[in-house]
Amino acid sequence: MLYRRAAIMVLLCAIHWIAQAESGSEGWLRYSRITNPGAIRQYQSLPHRIVQTGTSAMAQSASTELARGLYSMLGEDIQQAPSLSGDHGLSGADAFVLGTNDELHHLLPRWTPQPLKAEGFSVSRFKDGGNNYWIIAGGSPRGELYGVFHLLEQVAEEHALAPDTESPSSPIRWVDQWDNFDGSIERGYAGRSIFFDGGHVRSDLSRVSEYARLLASIGINGCDVNNVNSDLRTLQPDMLRELARIADAMRPWGVRLALSVDLSSPQIVGHLPTFAPLDPTVIDWWQQKTDEIYSLIPDLAGYVVKADSEGRLGPSKYGRNPAQAANALAHALQSHHGLVLYRGFVYNQHLDWRDPKADRARAGYDNFHSLDGTFAPNVVIQVKHGPIDFQVREPVSPLFTALQHTSQAVELQVSQQYTGQQRHMVFLVPMLKAALDTDLRAQNRTTPVKEIVEGKSFHQPLGGFVGVANVGLDANWLHHPMAMANLYGFGKLAWNPDLTTDQIIDSWTRLTFGNNPRVVSTIDDLQRNSWHAYEQYTGPLGVGTLTDIIGIHYGPGIESAERNGWGQWIRAAHRGIGMDRTIATGTGYIGQYPPELAKVYESLATCPDELLLFMHHVPYAYVLHSGKTVIQHVYDSHYAGAATAATYASRWQRLHGLIDEERYQQTLALFQYQAGHAIVWRDAVSEWFLRMSGIPDAAGRVGHFPDRIEAESMQSDGYTPVDVTPWETASGGKAVVCNRISACTLAQVFNKPAGAYTIAVQYFDLRIGAAQFELLLNGKPIAHWTADDTLPPAVVDRRIDGHTSTRFTLPGVKLAPGDTLTLRGIPDGGEPAPVDYIEITK
Ligand code: GCU
Repeated sequence: MLYRRAAIMVLLCAIHWIAQAESGSEGWLRYSRITNPGAIRQYQSLPHRIVQTGTSAMAQSASTELARGLYSMLGEDIQQAPSLSGDHGLSGADAFVLGTNDELHHLLPRWTPQPLKAEGFSVSRFKDGGNNYWIIAGGSPRGELYGVFHLLEQVAEEHALAPDTESPSSPIRWVDQWDNFDGSIERGYAGRSIFFDGGHVRSDLSRVSEYARLLASIGINGCDVNNVNSDLRTLQPDMLRELARIADAMRPWGVRLALSVDLSSPQIVGHLPTFAPLDPTVIDWWQQKTDEIYSLIPDLAGYVVKADSEGRLGPSKYGRNPAQAANALAHALQSHHGLVLYRGFVYNQHLDWRDPKADRARAGYDNFHSLDGTFAPNVVIQVKHGPIDFQVREPVSPLFTALQHTSQAVELQVSQQYTGQQRHMVFLVPMLKAALDTDLRAQNRTTPVKEIVEGKSFHQPLGGFVGVANVGLDANWLHHPMAMANLYGFGKLAWNPDLTTDQIIDSWTRLTFGNNPRVVSTIDDLQRNSWHAYEQYTGPLGVGTLTDIIGIHYGPGIESAERNGWGQWIRAAHRGIGMDRTIATGTGYIGQYPPELAKVYESLATCPDELLLFMHHVPYAYVLHSGKTVIQHVYDSHYAGAATAATYASRWQRLHGLIDEERYQQTLALFQYQAGHAIVWRDAVSEWFLRMSGIPDAAGRVGHFPDRIEAESMQSDGYTPVDVTPWETASGGKAVVCNRISACTLAQVFNKPAGAYTIAVQYFDLRIGAAQFELLLNGKPIAHWTADDTLPPAVVDRRIDGHTSTRFTLPGVKLAPGDTLTLRGIPDGGEPAPVDYIEITK
């Protein structure tokens, strides 16, 4: 009887739990109820009372969060004692006691504090007068908040609570949002801005507070909220007043506002005749403007500056250099303890493609190295981790070693701009770690990027980590449920860059999807290898991402890299491929690295395969260290990567019922989509390389699709063929479109042996409408779907290409010779139900 009742209870709980929909809005702060009896037992002795010694908003957040988390996870009511001075609040019962070291010492004179850095924390146990205390001490209220999140994370992961002391790697741990005042987001893929709408700061900033809480939980202490391509109205008085509301919303979570500013502001906003950085009226203007800002936002973290880059104005207009410009701003910020994060992303986008010595990768070093030591102490140079622009694989920027008397922050991308735009699962932490761990060997000693930006290598006082993030109004912040691991991972690495990929992903999965071992191991495995798989089916051997670099950076667009001034050249010719960046015969870029590393990259014998085409131009038949030729590697890796992506959905399906239905279905749909889009990538790149090199695939796959029926060769009623540009983004370079108002059809008689087949329809899903498709077998409908995905070309884009190419797959269809398959496309809103091909496989 007892057993039966227990079983019923378990069932009821399970039903309740499985049915519960989760939008993902809580991110990794779900605090779901702990049901594992062993775990419950170990938390039974935790106090039910919180005593807060501080009175600041951050201290309040800390105690409220602790109460919220413990209540939610353990179901215990937690009493929050009011803020107090003296010792009356401590008498009588066990408690969590929160405060800064100083506050706590005052309250508990017999407790010995751990020495703490300003943002560090300690969690310790202390017995006094028969009572047990868990003490969460911060070097500051912000540190205290971090201590609370740390403790809650331990509980959520069902770890035994243990005393711990931690402090962050570096003072700058910021995210840069690239949000525009109109509510759009530059390189945003998850809806509109949480900060802005219609030219103003949103009236409802509740999502901003929630975002700040998520950021605080991973130790982020600054957020630059407006696009680095800064709106020229940013520094106008009315806009500043609005921006101050964002600062107010984030402040309780210890996240300070930073602002992207445009160097021409003295002229545009201040109506001065010039914005020359050394002009006394300009210097004065920056001072007054900065004072005005601090009167509204007393804890502004500082300014972020993009200048002389991609059309932004900068000091070069007046023959001045970045140090002179940065220092003018730094001077104005100095008395307010504000920082200037001046971006090292300064380059000329009008390079001469015909010049074999021209090289965008050189720009950061060339523009900044001679300025080392001339920057004001509150200037930090913000350097993208690679010398180009967040490609799927890049070496690290040599600029990191050129600045040995200047503070630096590494700019990493959380937004998947070049890595699948949150429609593909690409867990970026392994990539970020590869960059941070790269030992540049400056001064012939160990100088990994992480230690340079921590200020350790060259003894700099400031520095740190900036993550370009693009959360939007989508309920789950980043669109793909898996993408939040990148934001979480960035924060964790900024706090402690020595954490391993496994530690990070394991924690994220447990916090986001629970502690069920099958769930944890499946998701960890899926995420862990996803960057590698994405690199395999997109850009090989360090050549770049091979995406459409002129447009939206999403689908394949191989030649877009060439013959223009943007300098993301791959230098592909009939005989070979790759940028020759050697000192001996190339652009000399390799010479910007310290000698030990330069030697490794310069020689073909030692240059790692994964960076080969970034550093060298080689023939397609060149044999890699792996023993394969370059061309066969391109073919094999693209097939291998797409094959890996094809496993995601079925691996995920094993979790059905173990996680909530909403996130389960959302992720499944994205994995199914990714499998199809990985094939688009695979085919585009492989076919293009085949045409370019003329060297066939030894395995006979590329260019041979015996199971594929091109739409343009099917029997058509109403569909007309069109050329697709670039040609490699559609099978055979062509698709068909339906220019009627009503349906068009494509038909094909099946002539293979009878059996169960998988039918894949490759079509194009444009944002301009929601065309419908119907698949019929001998006139009977067997599938129906609507082309209404929200793919990255968020704007109205009528192009049929590799961004929009999408696959619908129907497994287990029984077919016999003589059967007729018909595809009906019903156009909608100008979307002509375009089709590329149908593939029927065993
Ligand atoms: C990339 C990105 C731009 C952005 C720029 C930057 O090139 O595509 O949208 O403005 O980086 O970092 O400034």
